[in-house]
Amino acid sequence: MNETSSRIWLITGATSGIGRELTLQALESGESVAALARDTAALDELTEAHGGRLLLVPTDVRDEQAVREAVERVLARFGRIDVVANNAGYGLFGAVEEASDAQARAVFDTNVFGVLNVLRATLPVLRAQRSGHVLQGSSVYGQSAHPGVGLLAATKYAVEGLSDALAAEVAPLGIKVTLVQPGMTATPFLSNLDVAAGLDDYDQTVRAVHKAIGELPASAFSAAARIAEGIRTAVDSPNPPLRLALGADGATGIRTALEARTADLDDWIRVTDAVNR
Ligand SMILES: NC(=O)c1ccc[n+]([C@@H]2O[C@H](COP(=O)([O-])OP(=O)(O)OC[C@H]3O[C@@H](n4cnc5c(N)ncnc54)[C@H](OP(=O)(O)O)[C@@H]3O)[C@@H](O)[C@H]2O)c1
Repeated sequence: MNETSSRIWLITGATSGIGRELTLQALESGESVAALARDTAALDELTEAHGGRLLLVPTDVRDEQAVREAVERVLARFGRIDVVANNAGYGLFGAVEEASDAQARAVFDTNVFGVLNVLRATLPVLRAQRSGHVLQGSSVYGQSAHPGVGLLAATKYAVEGLSDALAAEVAPLGIKVTLVQPGMTATPFLSNLDVAAGLDDYDQTVRAVHKAIGELPASAFSAAARIAEGIRTAVDSPNPPLRLALGADGATGIRTALEARTADLDDWIRVTDAVNR
């Protein structure tokens, strides 16, 4: 058994979409997976085929104690963790003003505080090992946003910000961090969306975009298996990137947003520098 085929993964949101593909590809490569989701029944059929290399751990990432207990179970079974895929998440679609306080807090609870719960439970393990790779579930919406995705993007921008600091904090401890930024991917994500609506004034922006996304052809979405392959290429690399865009549409969105940011900096540099004169 070589170093790669004995790799131990902890994957949140492992039962569907990108997480499921990551789980399947790791198992097919002979690696071991601790699969976390609230309901892991969708992976029951795999346990027979992969026996001791797949551990199903029903866990809600919003529950800090449950996440800690899950990590204890993973250590009891596998003894270490090599890759933490902080992948669980869902989307909220609607105008910023339309999202209720409860909807906004709920999406942060899963997409941001869930990520933090997993980090606090797993980083002590990775620090003790002086090794490990943390995959942070971001998105094209971690660097860019259009009407309708304000709250979803806010959660992904939060994950990007904390990961910039985290990467620098844990690098001297032998731990790598990669922000995974898929573009539009064919998963149940769109059918699991929470939706905020109610204000006609946003029909021309938010509803128009939502309708346009709903009418996209299947060819506009990357296959989740290809996203998982991209993630595995980064995990296999001795020098993985801090940010990994996956899918040409997402990369274009990110590039456009980055260029707009540097253009603002350049266009207003005289006002910026006047502060120090
Ligand atoms: N699909 C896209 O176009 C796209 C694009 C960019 C980024 N992403 C990101 O990729 C990640 C995976 O999305 P996906 O497209 O694969 O979505 P998906 O098919 O809807 O899968 C979401 C997974 O997360 C789990 N989950 C949700 N809430 C959870 C919670 N509180 N605790 C534990 N697990 C939870 C779900 O299982 P349970 O419901 O059983 O808990 C499921 O396994 C997300 O972070 C998403 O933002 C997706």
